[in-house]
Amino acid sequence: MAQLWKGRFKKELAKETNDFNSSIKFDCRMFEEDIKGSIAHATMLGACGIIEKSESEKITAGLSEILDDIKGGRLEIDMEAEDIHTFVEGELTARLGQTGKRLHTARSRNDQVALDIRMVLKNEINEISEKLKSLITVLCEKAEQNTDTIMPGYTHLQRAQPITFAHHLMAYCAMLCRDLDRLGDIKKRMNVLPLGSGALAGTTYPIDRSMVAELLGFDDISANSLDGVSDRDFCIELACALSIIMVHLSRFSEEIIMWCSWEFKFVELDDAFSTGSSIMPQKKNPDIAELVRGKSGRVFGDLTALLTVMKGIALAYNKDMQEDKEAIFDAVDTVKMCLNAFTPMIDTMTVLKENMRNAASRGFINATDCADYLVGKGLAFRDAYKATGELVALCIDKGLTLETLPIEEYKAVCDLFDEDVYTAINLEKCVNDRLVPGGPSAQSVMAQIERARRLIAI
Ligand code: ARG
Repeated sequence: MAQLWKGRFKKELAKETNDFNSSIKFDCRMFEEDIKGSIAHATMLGACGIIEKSESEKITAGLSEILDDIKGGRLEIDMEAEDIHTFVEGELTARLGQTGKRLHTARSRNDQVALDIRMVLKNEINEISEKLKSLITVLCEKAEQNTDTIMPGYTHLQRAQPITFAHHLMAYCAMLCRDLDRLGDIKKRMNVLPLGSGALAGTTYPIDRSMVAELLGFDDISANSLDGVSDRDFCIELACALSIIMVHLSRFSEEIIMWCSWEFKFVELDDAFSTGSSIMPQKKNPDIAELVRGKSGRVFGDLTALLTVMKGIALAYNKDMQEDKEAIFDAVDTVKMCLNAFTPMIDTMTVLKENMRNAASRGFINATDCADYLVGKGLAFRDAYKATGELVALCIDKGLTLETLPIEEYKAVCDLFDEDVYTAINLEKCVNDRLVPGGPSAQSVMAQIERARRLIAI
């Protein structure tokens, strides 16, 4: 396929050059946005009298037909073309002759590509946001069913204090709500029209940038033409937000993997979302969770690639920037794929409440509450802490728990203890007394669930 820039050149392009230079294999996914952007541009050129109205109408009709034909499978995108912009313009000219050649007036591929990526990524942000909302919905449902499912909360992977499974799930939900919010912020900054920046220095034609912005649903127009064509901070920001989503999913995956092990057995994944081993008949592996954890590395790599591509190039456009698309598309696709598999995996997993409760009753996770009991009887916290520490050591010696240690032993360590200590260290009570906003009591967790549901309803 012919290049758009032939005039100056005497020789044909070497095949190796075209293969290396061409971006069609990955920018072909922008065909719809490229055509819609061109339709808006041509409409504006006609409205401003830069081209004849009749020609503008022919161009927009021709572009609409091309779009329909690609979507309907009647027109195949030529993989030998330099890029999607070249292909669409070439096809338009093949269909309309001279009139097609007027489309690119007052425009460069530099502002065109900057526009297309923004349009594509705005849609992708919407899609990913919907997927995040589905996961948040599933987490809220699962949490609602588990506000009384006692489990150990951990620090250093050591049993620490009693919480509920609902509380644990809502921690991830809070992270995902921030992820959603972050995507919204990024979309706001992305929603600025670069078209009209030209190659770098704008244009002498009396174009109406605001009209194009309005036609394409952009909130504003970019303030500086050099910047309009030569920053990809919106890709970097998005890759960063996607990396953070992957950090959250990866951490969650790590816990799912642990919880599936016989050492924990807190959850059982549905058969439809686990895999077996080719040799060990007993195995049921949490492959989805492991893959999500593994794929996080790809997305971090994409972010690093984008940062590295951009860090040393002089203004304005440089061909290095063509590398932006593979990186950001890979990050977008990976996150979408992970969410597609992760959400139903969580939705269908069985929570083994009894195993969580059993794990919670060993490991002295009510020791803080035991110390707080003594504080309630007038002892200073530091002394109460020390007395409880002695009791824990005693229990370990005797193979007992705080629940099964006889009251005489308590009294021998501190005479403030009475029979009511057993009520004070009851795990259900320890959890449900933590009424502090954000805490694990059923009441606090329900408030967290309602908050998350309100956020995704907006
Ligand atoms: N395929 C190019 C890219 O993705 C389009 C812009 C080409 N501009 C240029 N000056 N060669 O960056």
